[in-house]
Amino acid sequence: MFEHIKISDLKEHLGEEIVSFYLVTSKEIRQGKNDRYLYLRLQDHSGSINGYVWKDFQKAAEEFSEGDVIKIKAIVNNYKDQVQLNVSQLRYADKSEYNIEHFISTSSKPPEFLAEQFFSFIDKVENLWINKLLHLIFDDKEFFCLFLNAPAAKSWHHNYRHGLIEHTVNVATLCDSICTIYPVHRDLIIAGALLHDVGKVFEYSSAPSIDFTDLGRLVGHLSLGDQFVCEKAKEIVGFPDEILLNLRHMILAHHGEYEKGSVRLPQTLEALVLHLCDNLDAQSVGVAQLLAAAPEDAVWTEYDKLNNRYYHLTKI
Ligand SMILES: [Fe+2]
Ligand SMILES: [Fe+2]
Repeated sequence: MFEHIKISDLKEHLGEEIVSFYLVTSKEIRQGKNDRYLYLRLQDHSGSINGYVWKDFQKAAEEFSEGDVIKIKAIVNNYKDQVQLNVSQLRYADKSEYNIEHFISTSSKPPEFLAEQFFSFIDKVENLWINKLLHLIFDDKEFFCLFLNAPAAKSWHHNYRHGLIEHTVNVATLCDSICTIYPVHRDLIIAGALLHDVGKVFEYSSAPSIDFTDLGRLVGHLSLGDQFVCEKAKEIVGFPDEILLNLRHMILAHHGEYEKGSVRLPQTLEALVLHLCDNLDAQSVGVAQLLAAAPEDAVWTEYDKLNNRYYHLTKI
């Protein structure tokens, strides 16, 4: 029988022993203060949680790989305001025992809604060349299907199915509203927003567990996106060099700083504003995800390793 307790419901089982199936997204033997142990990151469609195996961890680690589903027996613990699982038994679960859909985290927004919002931005682009390029790229059903299902990250913001399009629509929405405040070229920045992370389609392998592809690790989504957009623009006879140059710059500079993997520093107003909108959405959604994952009575979130801080849960 398929036994499953949603990760988001585990806080209601504190102190209890549970039996459940989860997908393993990370597995690592770590050195603690006194002993070594097996660290697991476990996931289902409702969230993810840390699991720890203290006894016979070496043998347990050989039973399965990252990306497998395992069946566990564990005590639900509250350690420093974080719900975690102390696993006493585990085994590899055969595919016939579960439905993989239970373990894939997905955007809370329906894909049809996100796709509609995405294409409404393309429709608003008046420049005929930019409009043509966007249609050429996203009217390709096979490619759009990959884009629609892709995650935007492995572990920080929008790290779930449809995460890439959700993030892209958010960035386009921010850029669109900012056009009324700053003198940016609207069509350029909207296209930049829609295309800035397009290379992520090739950077990540998605469901069931998200990981980097070799291409993603070795080349990265900024260069992959740049190359992809150049190839597509070449298919349009007479595509203006100046437009392509600006689009390429927005893609290659959207991480803002060399330390954050940016190929160039933003050197146009559109590239600078796009970078700030991209960062605003990535950081805000990342923090919102940490806040949502915290137990109800927690005062602080889990530690944010990327930004070196905890976040306080406002209870007003
Ligand atoms: Fe990016
Ligand atoms: Fe982004």
